[in-house]
Amino acid sequence: MANLSVNIAGVEFKNPVITASGCFGFGKEYEKLYPLSRLGGISLKGMTYAERAGNPVPRIAETPAGMLNSVGLQNPGVDAFLANELPYLKDKGTVLIANAAGSSVEDYCALVERLSDSDIDMVELNISCPNVKQGGAAFGVACDSAAHVVKEVRKVCKKPLMVKLSPNVTDIASIAQAVEAEGADAISLINTLFGMRIDIESRRPVLAMNAGGLSGPCVFPVAVRMVWQVANRVKIPVVGLGGIEKWQDAIEMMLAGANAIQVGTAMFYDPYAPLKIIEGVNQWLDDHGIKDVNEIVGQVKPW
Ligand code: SIN
Repeated sequence: MANLSVNIAGVEFKNPVITASGCFGFGKEYEKLYPLSRLGGISLKGMTYAERAGNPVPRIAETPAGMLNSVGLQNPGVDAFLANELPYLKDKGTVLIANAAGSSVEDYCALVERLSDSDIDMVELNISCPNVKQGGAAFGVACDSAAHVVKEVRKVCKKPLMVKLSPNVTDIASIAQAVEAEGADAISLINTLFGMRIDIESRRPVLAMNAGGLSGPCVFPVAVRMVWQVANRVKIPVVGLGGIEKWQDAIEMMLAGANAIQVGTAMFYDPYAPLKIIEGVNQWLDDHGIKDVNEIVGQVKPW
């Protein structure tokens, strides 16, 4: 068996497979299926300082090879998370990543300050949610606003800080570089692509917010390209996500430059996908005589 452990920003993961934010809740439903300790890590549902009810329904729709969502960061707020969810999660034997969102720089800072004194292992700063009117992606789509929020959060963040980037930009590598310069310890990408579908009989958009974030296998080639571009531009670790559903996708993403990967939408149709990916990656490494998963990171041979 090859070494599957990876180190991201000083945090040791037993394998490179992390469940993506928004697709795993706070883990309780999945623990009925398998021990959470089998996962490299869990990125928890996007959290804000105050509780949020989220957007009106319908806010999820299936699309060919994908899904549109406009959940709108429904979450119980940080105090309820710390009181009701973290005590249950903290001894599960997997890395816990808090996905932190906000609608102002002050909001992000207040939230991250609270998380800094908790048992969370890492913060994933979400500057890429396309589904809220203020904040979220508004910070992540330009170098200066992304850099500014990371700079301020860095001052109060005592945990390793990973920044989750939006694909709805023209030059994602420059945004990655800007947040690295302000102290990000790692980068995760991609969040969802902003999309829209319309029901031709009712003539209404399928989502009540009209548009929302597209995820699933249909976005995978975009994610691979962006991870490759970012990994070639920054020195900090990169966590790749966007449409990964099989172990082959995980290997491809790591060849593009990801030090670890996240599995998201696939879990809605196969909750065992992360486990199958761990097993498949391990088998592929053995079949190729590779002793350590870290050896394949960035090993794509561009033409
Ligand atoms: C949502 O809750 O709207 C999705 C979160 C995200 O895209 O970051």
